[in-house]
Amino acid sequence: MNIIQKIKSKLLGLPKYPVTYNQDGLTTIHNTGFMRNADFIKAEAAGAATGSWSKIHWRVHTILWAANQCLQVEGDFLECGTNKGGFARAIVEYADLAKANKNFYLLDTFEGLADELLTDKEKAAGKKEHFENEYKDCYTQVVQAFKNFPFVKIVKGMVPATLAEVPSDKIAFMSIDMNSIVPEIAALNYFWDKLSKGGIIVLDDYAYATCDLQYEAHNLWAAEKGIKILSLPTGQGLIVK
Ligand SMILES: C[S@@+](CC[C@H](N)C(=O)[O-])C[C@H]1O[C@@H](n2cnc3c(N)ncnc32)[C@H](O)[C@@H]1O
Repeated sequence: MNIIQKIKSKLLGLPKYPVTYNQDGLTTIHNTGFMRNADFIKAEAAGAATGSWSKIHWRVHTILWAANQCLQVEGDFLECGTNKGGFARAIVEYADLAKANKNFYLLDTFEGLADELLTDKEKAAGKKEHFENEYKDCYTQVVQAFKNFPFVKIVKGMVPATLAEVPSDKIAFMSIDMNSIVPEIAALNYFWDKLSKGGIIVLDDYAYATCDLQYEAHNLWAAEKGIKILSLPTGQGLIVK
């Protein structure tokens, strides 16, 4: 950076170093070396190819790191809120679940949020309208996307009613991403005692912009359990048991 640029950036309050990442609500000058890693590139591409999301690299990096850590932890993997399978498809590309002898349960209505489970505050905040056209029927597509991964078990239906369809006594990894407080808290309560020591929970919406009601609910839940949630600049929340 030359002297003129330095003065300009000081006057404008701009960062001293070049911005390395600017997407998904996160701008930083820090090292994004993970984005040049071949395994990451392949896994992110597999996830994005499902059509679930695009350009959320740092969130994908977080969840892949967590899933990979949990290969060493006793128990199965699960995700509540899978949609077209973006995170899940990236995870199976990145972490060798078959070798680690783990099942991966994917729970979703595969038809969108359950309106009847929205809290009054969520209704007042317009959650129903916000997600009305976002999540379409994608069950057949998800079955197709995971047909070559026999350890992936797809559980179609409404959480919490379907939670008991996960037969695992021990859980190593949980991704919670339903954009809806009641089923998220129900899933956290249901699986907390089954989560092994060292097991990880990734809360996708924890501190994400516009998700303040989930932030409040997740924090209340954590306080009841006597734990604290790590708030990540991606908007995700992280718990390591
Ligand atoms: C943000 S999307 C999940 C995105 C996904 N993790 C990915 O990688 O793309 C939220 C999903 O939660 C599901 N969902 C919301 N409420 C639910 C409930 N009570 N039971 C089951 N699925 C639910 C929706 O159908 C939707 O597919």
